[in-house]
Amino acid sequence: MNDILYNGKSKNVFPGPDKDSLIIRYKDTATAFNGEKKEELKGKGKINAAISNLIFTFLQEKGIKTHFIKEIDETSILVRKADIILVELIVRNTAAGSFSKKYGISEGIELKNTVLEFSLKSDSLGDPMINISQITAIGIAERKELSLMIDMAEKINILLTDLFLKAEIRLIDFKLEFGRCGNEIVLCDEISPDSCRLWDLQTGDKMDKDRFRRDLGNVMEGYGKVLDRLKRII
Ligand SMILES: Nc1ncnc2c1ncn2[C@@H]1O[C@H](COP(=O)(O)OP(=O)(O)O)[C@@H](O)[C@H]1O
Ligand SMILES: [Mg+2]
Repeated sequence: MNDILYNGKSKNVFPGPDKDSLIIRYKDTATAFNGEKKEELKGKGKINAAISNLIFTFLQEKGIKTHFIKEIDETSILVRKADIILVELIVRNTAAGSFSKKYGISEGIELKNTVLEFSLKSDSLGDPMINISQITAIGIAERKELSLMIDMAEKINILLTDLFLKAEIRLIDFKLEFGRCGNEIVLCDEISPDSCRLWDLQTGDKMDKDRFRRDLGNVMEGYGKVLDRLKRII
């Protein structure tokens, strides 16, 4: 595969077989803190691709529109080419990470309602939090697109919270990306332990990228457990 279109932090993007598709290939590279911390984690690409593919297929079967077309090989997928909306949507069920830090709420405190946060997708600006009026004011997305994204995120949260519970995993929070495909808004990018916080329901052990961020060790063991448990229930 040549003609790389985009060399991302954790994936590479290549042209697809036609103009409306792309090939995304997962890499073993792990990054955190806006790329400051970076390491190769052997096997991460394969595991994240497998987890994300299971989840996207599951969501699609439940009526969520996604970019996923099919698996090409262990690390590569064929997707619908989208015009990525340059905001990330973070969904939080339990306080953790930047939310805990910013608002002084201990990690692990169950939130009284689901929290939705937008952040600008900009590595150079450090992905700052942005509100709906700011997003529409600078022309990143229209209000009705954001409403659709919020509706989809809420549905995805209900579906995934239940799915992970069946796998004895607590879905603490996760990040979503969306794109425009024709006249549709579709779920893009990935859903994996790189983009979610996932805690063991029984022990509270972290099974996600916080193992890498916080040097907790056994990063791939955590990711591997998530995949094994999902395979058992999907
Ligand atoms: N269906 C899609 N169409 C176009 N771009 C996509 C699609 N899905 C994901 N992308 C983009 O491809 C890139 C994937 O590589 P990644 O390593 O995540 O990059 P980044 O360093 O920007 O996070 C991201 O920039 C993501 O927004
Ligand atoms: Mg990314």
